[in-house]
Amino acid sequence: HHGYGPDIDHVLLSEEQIQAKIGELAARIGADYAGKEVLLVGVLKGAVLFMSDFARALQLPTQMEFMAVSSYGSATSSSGVVRILKDLDRDISDRHVLVIEDIIDSGLTLSWLLKNLGGRRPASLEVCALLRKPDAVKVDVPVRYIGFDIPNEFVVGYGLDYAERYRDLPYIATLRPEVYAN
Ligand code: PRP
Ligand code: MN
Ligand code: MG
Repeated sequence: HHGYGPDIDHVLLSEEQIQAKIGELAARIGADYAGKEVLLVGVLKGAVLFMSDFARALQLPTQMEFMAVSSYGSATSSSGVVRILKDLDRDISDRHVLVIEDIIDSGLTLSWLLKNLGGRRPASLEVCALLRKPDAVKVDVPVRYIGFDIPNEFVVGYGLDYAERYRDLPYIATLRPEVYAN
């Protein structure tokens, strides 16, 4: 796909597995928020593909906002430094906010984000993350909805990048070691 074939080591989660999980999450979240207007807050750029598929699977009217924060830069491990690159365009006070994330790795991005958004007085604030790594449990981040718990390997695809590449893959995979050597 997309000519990335030679870079891919193994597929961790197929397109079918991801889409099936999104269907399950959408059913559960649709029931939990029945009758409410949900404001999805996508965390750029990683959450873009998940947000797009999730919003279409959810049988509820949603609105979309985006926030861009940075924790990784182009490296493969977290620095702990979180910067706002793009803030929300609107006030979220009294709104039912559901933060959409692609992955919780160290949990630093999300714990910072939840404190920041919580200070804006939303009616409710929850998180839906497609992936979570084991290290995330070391930081106390209350995450209501999780797609998959995955092993502590660096993964790309379905929004997740390595040096801005591979976000456009429809599946989640690991990269061959040679890719990092370049
Ligand atoms: C990645 C990922 C999460 C965050 C998780 O984003 O999309 O947002 O890191 O890491 P953490 O739990 O250790 O904080 P990144 O900062 O790489 O930006 P991107 O979404 O634009 O790729
Ligand atoms: Mn991200
Ligand atoms: Mg990234």
